[in-house]
Amino acid sequence: MKKITNFNTVLKSIYCYSKKKLDLPYMPNALWIEPTNACNLKCIMCPNSIIKNPNPGFMDIEVYKEIIDQAKDFASYVVLCISGESLLHKDFVEMVRYAKSNGLEVYLSTNATVMTSEISRNIIDAGLTWINFSFDGVLKDTYEKVRVKANFEKTLENIVNFLKIKKELNASTQTELQIIIMDDKGQKEYDENKDAFLENFKDLPLDSVQARKPSTWGSFLADTDKYVPIELEKTHGYSPCSYLWSSLHILWDGRIVACTSDFFGDNVLGKFPEQSLKEIWNGKLMKNFRQAMIDGSYLKYNKNCKDCDAIWEKRILGLPSGLRGISAITVSNIFSKKFLELAKKIAKLADSKFTMKVIKNKK
Ligand SMILES: C[S@@+](CC[C@H](N)C(=O)[O-])C[C@H]1O[C@@H](n2cnc3c(N)ncnc32)[C@H](O)[C@@H]1O
Ligand code: SF4
Repeated sequence: MKKITNFNTVLKSIYCYSKKKLDLPYMPNALWIEPTNACNLKCIMCPNSIIKNPNPGFMDIEVYKEIIDQAKDFASYVVLCISGESLLHKDFVEMVRYAKSNGLEVYLSTNATVMTSEISRNIIDAGLTWINFSFDGVLKDTYEKVRVKANFEKTLENIVNFLKIKKELNASTQTELQIIIMDDKGQKEYDENKDAFLENFKDLPLDSVQARKPSTWGSFLADTDKYVPIELEKTHGYSPCSYLWSSLHILWDGRIVACTSDFFGDNVLGKFPEQSLKEIWNGKLMKNFRQAMIDGSYLKYNKNCKDCDAIWEKRILGLPSGLRGISAITVSNIFSKKFLELAKKIAKLADSKFTMKVIKNKK
């Protein structure tokens, strides 16, 4: 029954987005929830490297459970991170377990620096669906220059340990390693050293390796000289931000924002639990912002949308990346995880800039 709801939502969200509807007759399939905005690193391409966060906070586990209680009947999956390092939350394992036991698939991106064997075993056991290890550099020097405060050997060891545990438990958790390449020099280094780097995962169940270019994260890093961001091409035309038609994003203290780029809550669209997810989804602020995206006046709500690639990138199969990605993940949750890999291949064929490389790693 839930799968039928999720599939219907895919169709309705595509329809309502294309028809520019403001009041949406469905609840979204995807929820991004921020366990914490605290982070132990200062990666050069991340807004955390340029904006001080003097008051990091941690989501109350009871508030988290209330979110899941409201979302379990309509959402397909939750992504447990926005701006911080989620494994720093003491109740993180419980968060995974609670979402999964309520029928939601659980996705995570982590810097893997504090991922002990115990945490690895426990999050796999709790039913984590998918994990991305953010590991930006195939050589120690590059990795440590990008992922400031991290140690190459230690993080690599943590990831290898995770994969050994996954293998030992014969677990279904899907694993991806993402490498963000900062410039042409980084690209050359990656091309020359990736095979040797991948030897670290020989005979281990790493499902894929993805290399990509960094964005400016809205306008936060538009003037950076620390790396070369992916170029914002306005030639493809404008697409209203499709996240507003397909997902909800909840910061650690319950503020609702439009997308993961709004790290610091510059444009708050609601507050949980004072308002329910349903009230927020079709609330006045959300509808105003949908309208502003349609008529192009969005900068009066959030100046950081100015340089965001999500509204200027090439559409594939008529869909911008937000709605397309959420639809593909939902369909893969319903039918088969293989669908997501297929969708990525189609996207790459349609636009070679989509991701630079997806390598199927030898198990
Ligand atoms: C903001 S982080 C939060 C989760 C966790 N701390 C981590 O590093 O994976 C989420 C993802 O955004 C990626 N990211 C950070 N800055 C980026 C940028 N400028 N362009 C594209 N991706 C970026 C990270 O590599 C990571 O995969
Ligand atoms: S990319 Fe992740 S680990 Fe790096 S500073 Fe941002 S939130 Fe922290």
